[in-house]
Amino acid sequence: MADKSLNEIRNTFLKYFEKNDHKIVESSNLVPNNDPTLMFANSGMVQFKNVFTGLEKRDYQRATTSQKCVRAGGKHNDLENVGYTPRHHTFFEMLGNFSFGDYFKEQAIHYAWNLITKDFGIDKNRLYVTVYHEDDEAFNFWKKIAGFSDEKIIRISTSDNFWSMGETGPCGPCSEIFYDHGDHLAGGLPGTKDEDGDRFIEIWNLVFMQYEQVSKDKRINLPKPSVDTGMGLERVAALLQGTHDNYETDHFKKIISSASEIIKIKQDQSNQSSFRVIADHLRASAFLIAEGVLPSNEGRGYVLRRIMRRGMRHSHLLGSKEPVFFNLFETLRDEMSGNYPELVRAESLIKETLRMEEEKFLVLLDRGIKILNDEVSKIDKVLPGEVAFKLYDTYGFPLDLTEDILRNKSMSIDTEKFQSLMKESRELAKKNWKGSGDAAVENIWFGIKDKLEATEFLGYETNQAEGIILSLLKDNKEVKELKENDEGIIVVNQTPFYGESGGQVGDTGEIVANDFKFEVTDVQKKLGDLFVHYGKVISGSIKIKDSVELKINVDRRNNTRAYHSATHLLHESLRRVLGDHVTQKGSLVEPSRLRFDFSHMKPIPTEEINKVENFVNTMISKKSDVKTRIMTPNEAVENGALALFGEKYGDEVRVLSMGDEGDKYFSTELCGGTHVKNTGDIGKFKIISQSSIAAGVRRIEALRDKQLEDYLKNKEKLSNISSEKDDEAIKDLSEQISKLGGKPNLDQSDQKTLIKNLTKQLETISVNSILEDKSKNKITDDEIKGIKLRLQKVDGLPPKELRKLVDKGKKELGEGIIIVFASKDDKVGIAVGVTDKLTDKFDAVQFVKVGSEIIGGQGGGGRKDFAQAGGQDQSKIEEAFKKLKTLI
Ligand code: ALA
Repeated sequence: MADKSLNEIRNTFLKYFEKNDHKIVESSNLVPNNDPTLMFANSGMVQFKNVFTGLEKRDYQRATTSQKCVRAGGKHNDLENVGYTPRHHTFFEMLGNFSFGDYFKEQAIHYAWNLITKDFGIDKNRLYVTVYHEDDEAFNFWKKIAGFSDEKIIRISTSDNFWSMGETGPCGPCSEIFYDHGDHLAGGLPGTKDEDGDRFIEIWNLVFMQYEQVSKDKRINLPKPSVDTGMGLERVAALLQGTHDNYETDHFKKIISSASEIIKIKQDQSNQSSFRVIADHLRASAFLIAEGVLPSNEGRGYVLRRIMRRGMRHSHLLGSKEPVFFNLFETLRDEMSGNYPELVRAESLIKETLRMEEEKFLVLLDRGIKILNDEVSKIDKVLPGEVAFKLYDTYGFPLDLTEDILRNKSMSIDTEKFQSLMKESRELAKKNWKGSGDAAVENIWFGIKDKLEATEFLGYETNQAEGIILSLLKDNKEVKELKENDEGIIVVNQTPFYGESGGQVGDTGEIVANDFKFEVTDVQKKLGDLFVHYGKVISGSIKIKDSVELKINVDRRNNTRAYHSATHLLHESLRRVLGDHVTQKGSLVEPSRLRFDFSHMKPIPTEEINKVENFVNTMISKKSDVKTRIMTPNEAVENGALALFGEKYGDEVRVLSMGDEGDKYFSTELCGGTHVKNTGDIGKFKIISQSSIAAGVRRIEALRDKQLEDYLKNKEKLSNISSEKDDEAIKDLSEQISKLGGKPNLDQSDQKTLIKNLTKQLETISVNSILEDKSKNKITDDEIKGIKLRLQKVDGLPPKELRKLVDKGKKELGEGIIIVFASKDDKVGIAVGVTDKLTDKFDAVQFVKVGSEIIGGQGGGGRKDFAQAGGQDQSKIEEAFKKLKTLI
């Protein structure tokens, strides 16, 4: 196997197991879509977790993969070692073979031994293995298959030889294969105190999956003993290329030499760690961004930011004052896109995100490092937690970055103090951290899915259909019958009801039979293709196997489909106007509006919003037919379909094309949603708000047709009311002034009244002109956990105007929370309004209290639906906004 490239070694592994009846399965995403407990895929078995536990069935019992893994930020975390050893990575590929209740220990050892000694041709004399101390079986198989003497099979009693995915999940004893790189390197055999050296390196871990850790103290047997193995591709490539250093393999050498060219500095012993860090962190960052993870201050986004900033600090250390990573990405793309086409699909997003983060951070980095150096010169051992916190808070230095900088100075950080300063914000992050965002699929559906076929969806063609009841649920348990007034769930063999997916909400409607009537309030899809109808029995009862008639609410669906088609036109229009880095980050398609989240870094100026609207409205006015085709995912991509990052598709996909551009379609997307037949059915379209919901992610809300008309009418009414009042007042004043003509000696009280009225009117005019000036009056409408939220900030407005703005906000939002700050002459006022229906959950007084503390004021006063207070510090308004958002 000498001189094989990393790409060839990956291939040899997969082909070997394919030849031995394993199915080659594609790597799953780094962001697990079947597990809310895990931050990133940390090994090959993650995508098969439910197959091991028996919850999920596949049509194969043996599989082999090369899995993208990230070990940073979770149970398995290697971040701080990267750069300082020849073999640690945040991102790596794990080669593995899997048996789901098929072969077990003996065969697993046999396969492994043959591959490494025959196909890879590794010298048997350099190999050692470990087994779990009580696993005599594995010990004996190694003796038999490898012909090892007892000293070469080392029994280990620690958790090193008992593998588990995380706090919960499949686990079992394992056996690891080690390679001796030779006595020119320091290091001892596994189990000795020098085991962490570079000499004896683990290359393959064979896990004999036998148990499932259900909770902290409960472990049960898996239905059938299984096998999960993991071989680090980068390590084995090093070995096969005659080095012990992963960063000396063909793949890493290319990235490192390209980094050296870009930064214009030669590699040597003294800067080796920095080059390693750059190469490793580039890979992790690019692969995470390709799946739509963007740098942020919480959850996965924060792990990405930590990796990116650590990498960027090392390029800075090498003397680079310019962003480096986005250029370097091209080498990585050329190296890896053959196996991972997502690197090409997401290229512009990856480059733009790298460049923006690096530009932003380089500004802070210089100043932060200067502060750190000043502090370091004053102390000798421990950096105060306050300094680390300041670096974090003001200069964006993640703690591990500061630690990394102090590493060579043999200094530590008072992390306890740091943590206590961080506590508040950390608790916040934790509260907001909800795993992968996919609710863990309730276990009950796995059982039901096993008994039933996938539901056939008829809703593309029809609004009404017959079906047979297959399953009924009440209180999350299967029942034989649903009776009058029962709230429950109905599963049928086929349905015209759309199940919520791809952002489009589920249909509502009714299910009927004779005197039975069930009002469907929502439809969800379970395990991909089981449609479940939620609702309540209005009359009669129903049993399993009964026939029913299913009817959707057609009006509601028609509106929803028009919004869905509008979303596609909007997506493509945004790409045309803003660029290819625009990718969908989320969407909500309802019968009364659409919301679209996408990757983009900056607010969109009005002219560009107008251009986007124009694109959409032009495509609508051309009234062209919408085309649906079924293709393989590859054909779809060849046809220019926008694939969503981070989504998995089956063998066949639905491809939606719409919009007439002469010989081609304006928009082509993979989509399972329901759409209009003709773009003309969408009706007039308008964007009504834009906001930022996370770093690099913007949100647009838009309306169409009837809802748009209503919205515009309402808006007009509101502004008419105020301008009518202004007009009346001005008329009144001018009458008074004209009366003065005949009254040269105005008496004092008349004079006072006139001045008062004039002042008042001028104030009104000035208030209105401030409110009309978008640079002084900033309104952001947002939604948090389904609660509408308006944040408004007005410069130059006297606080007494606050109440009116809150009232206006309430009218415009319908239901929601309105927070307004007004500042004038060193004073700042805050007012909060909560619409009536929400006052049992939210208290305006509480909001004002928290907000005014931050802006340096007192508690203020008011009621649950309206409260107000003053303060002094205008610079804290943004901070107050942020804090107030967390109260929702
Ligand atoms: N899941 C095992 C590991 O990651 C193979 O080491």
